[in-house]
Amino acid sequence: MRERQFQEEVQYFNRKLTGVIEQKMQGCSNKNLYAALNYIIDTGGKRLRPIICLLSAEAVGGSRDKALFVAMAIELLHNASLVHDDIIDENSIRRRNPSNPARYGEKKAIVIGDFLFGLSCEMLARCEVPEIVGLISSAVSNVAMGQYLEFTLRKKSLQKVTEHEYLEVAALKTASTFVASAEAGAILGGGSEVEIEKLCNYGKNLGMAFQIQDDVLDICGDPAKTGKPVGLDIKNGERTILVIHALNHLHPSEKEYISKVLSKKKDISSSDIERVREILMHSGSINYAIRLSNELIGGAKSCIEELEDSEAKEKLKAIADFAAERIEKQSFAEFIL
Ligand code: IPE
Ligand code: IPE
Ligand code: MG
Ligand code: MG
Repeated sequence: MRERQFQEEVQYFNRKLTGVIEQKMQGCSNKNLYAALNYIIDTGGKRLRPIICLLSAEAVGGSRDKALFVAMAIELLHNASLVHDDIIDENSIRRRNPSNPARYGEKKAIVIGDFLFGLSCEMLARCEVPEIVGLISSAVSNVAMGQYLEFTLRKKSLQKVTEHEYLEVAALKTASTFVASAEAGAILGGGSEVEIEKLCNYGKNLGMAFQIQDDVLDICGDPAKTGKPVGLDIKNGERTILVIHALNHLHPSEKEYISKVLSKKKDISSSDIERVREILMHSGSINYAIRLSNELIGGAKSCIEELEDSEAKEKLKAIADFAAERIEKQSFAEFIL
């Protein structure tokens, strides 16, 4: 799939989502809430999850129309979780724009997030398949569990946090929505058990790779391209795969420096972030994370290799490739060795 084809998928989905939002807000007197919802639509996003859902339905021989409401439900719940995540992480920039809490204040952002969750449930109800309702609802609780587990890790001594714990958080907070997208699409498309399992594994691998890349981009990304600030994970004392790897491979004085910076919280300067970046580069931690995410991307593609050939299958593989190219395209070249 070319980039243009991917853009066409995004535009198709955005048209459908805008229609639903307009319908929902018809006659709604609360213009601010309407503006807040449109703001989420207008500032956009990659729409990876809903597109994976629609393509998964097609990849097993079904029709995308059957999966459309569920695809919308997933994108809305993802947006809701981002609004709440921006409150938790005190993130003021998202998708190259002021984040919801930065624009409307935290209290309103909590309610906007809830409203998006509610709208997501409305879309989900339209699919009328209890199994799908169950699996999407589980994804919502998994995201919350992942976000909660992340709080716990932020408080735990950095030396004691393991890569396994990091992967557990990534699986819950991020891969779970990718798995749900692929699984729901495959079920609604009438896939066999084997096909559904292959697509679930595709979603799991891709989702894990995606979070690892996101963590690399937090430190190496060009904000003009990622649309998010640099170094926010460091400011928040996040135990990412990068710092966990570095702690296991560094000289004691650098270990101490990293631990100190991660416990500084908001007082971190841009020179601290630069120094952390340099340390993560020479410890090989950035390369390690990129290698791992590339392996997972390869895993995602091979999971669906045995599905019957189709345009949708090729598009799913291309989405995995786009994800792999994200680091090259969105980072400052000099930060990637
Ligand atoms: C951001 O997800 C949150 C993570 C799971 C890292 P996306 O990068 O898919 O966000 P949008 O929807 O494209 O903005
Ligand atoms: C958030 O992960 C994943 C969610 C479930 C919302 P991050 O905290 O890394 O997301 P970004 O980097 O702010 O997009
Ligand atoms: Mg977060
Ligand atoms: Mg992040």
